[in-house]
Amino acid sequence: MSAETALKQVKDGDRIVVGHACGEPPTLVDALVARAPELKNVEIVHMVAMGPAKYAQPGMEGSFRHNSLFVGAATRKAVSEGRALHTPCFFSEIPRLFSWRILPVDVTLMQVTPPDAEGYCSLGVSVDYTLAASGADRVTIAQMNKFMPRTLGAKIHLDEIDCIVEKDEPLIELKPPVIGDLERAIGENVAKLIEDGSTLQLGIGAIPDAVLLFLKDKKDLGIHSEMFSDGIVALAEAGVVTNRKKTINTGKYVVTFLMGTRKLYDFVDNNPDVMMRPVDYTNDPFIIGQHEKMISINSALQVDMMGQVNAEMIGRNQFSGVGGQVDFVRGASRSVGGKSIIALPSTAAGGKVSRIAGALDPGAAVTTSRNDVHFIVTEYGAADLRGKSIRERAKALIAIAHPNFRESLTAQAKEQGML
Ligand code: COA
Repeated sequence: MSAETALKQVKDGDRIVVGHACGEPPTLVDALVARAPELKNVEIVHMVAMGPAKYAQPGMEGSFRHNSLFVGAATRKAVSEGRALHTPCFFSEIPRLFSWRILPVDVTLMQVTPPDAEGYCSLGVSVDYTLAASGADRVTIAQMNKFMPRTLGAKIHLDEIDCIVEKDEPLIELKPPVIGDLERAIGENVAKLIEDGSTLQLGIGAIPDAVLLFLKDKKDLGIHSEMFSDGIVALAEAGVVTNRKKTINTGKYVVTFLMGTRKLYDFVDNNPDVMMRPVDYTNDPFIIGQHEKMISINSALQVDMMGQVNAEMIGRNQFSGVGGQVDFVRGASRSVGGKSIIALPSTAAGGKVSRIAGALDPGAAVTTSRNDVHFIVTEYGAADLRGKSIRERAKALIAIAHPNFRESLTAQAKEQGML
């Protein structure tokens, strides 16, 4: 049916779950937004919105209320101005929020491939929470798009979809980030912590991509991650990532969503080595912890001298969300030979602010607690906080702070009785 007809299924007061990141179905979202004048109080639940998120723009408040599970560039202003909401939650628990009806779902909007001979469609680049939403909703609406790569591991049968809208259009893409000298220096420090045969989780952005540049001489790396992007394709082609040494799911890339360019989407298309699994599997700390030498690499906005990590708020403003950070920090800490790494530049705001902070900014949330934290890495080196007292942590973190701030951090640590 047409998108217009399919979206007539949405009623006032419904909660709608939208397929995640580059798996968002643009045609369905546009048709929903077109109904704004006639709809009231419709909640749109989404994680990282990679599309324009028109439903969160000024003037849409009466029709749509966006409930963001992870704030991104397209939704940040709406959340900070109070026109949209943020709900804190671990990525791994989102499927349970839907299937246990803690957040009851009325309508799911997803994007799928055309069916195979048995009538199964692949969920392509975004599997994470969509099947859980679809299993708990009143209506599942799918955009069927021949440009969606057929990934293996998660599928939905035509019988489980209520409305199908056939519309072929290029997927949303994420261009590779610009990697400068700073990111390279951090990437090199992180790469020194990675041994041959490790299994990696990599977050989004310039720092994780910079790490990849320094892995070219490593052997038999594996991937168990919530996502990966184009950088991994180059390492796979170079024979660095083989997944051969993975303790579980040996030989397979295990991932819940993909963000990149067509190069990545072609790499995963019908690739029997890529296994897409829902996020309550990929991000389950007990699954992650079964891998020996599991390395998680994520970033942060600031870290205090006790090792509390804020990865999501600038002051009182929600900048992003926890995503899978704590899922992987906890999983890597259970792994024999594992390491969880938080890598960040030593300063922000053009060098005016130290990200190694005397205290987190007032109003900022703790993302990774001081009890969970392992390695903190900046361009000045790595601090291993495992088993370290508060005094030892303060010393180790000051040593990797920007030299311009070491003296004032030392004075603050003394004032706070840490040193
Ligand atoms: N005080 C003031 N401003 C700060 C700041 C601080 N402590 N820390 C960062 N900023 C500013 C930066 O200067 C930058 O501003 P600019 O764009 O004007 O230069 C902006 O905030 C963004 O900082 P940056 O470090 O460039 O962010 P990023 O895009 O690399 O993302 C996180 C870093 C932490 C937000 C991101 O990794 C994240 O969302 N992590 C949490 C989720 C997660 O780890 N998920 C798991 C993997 S997907």
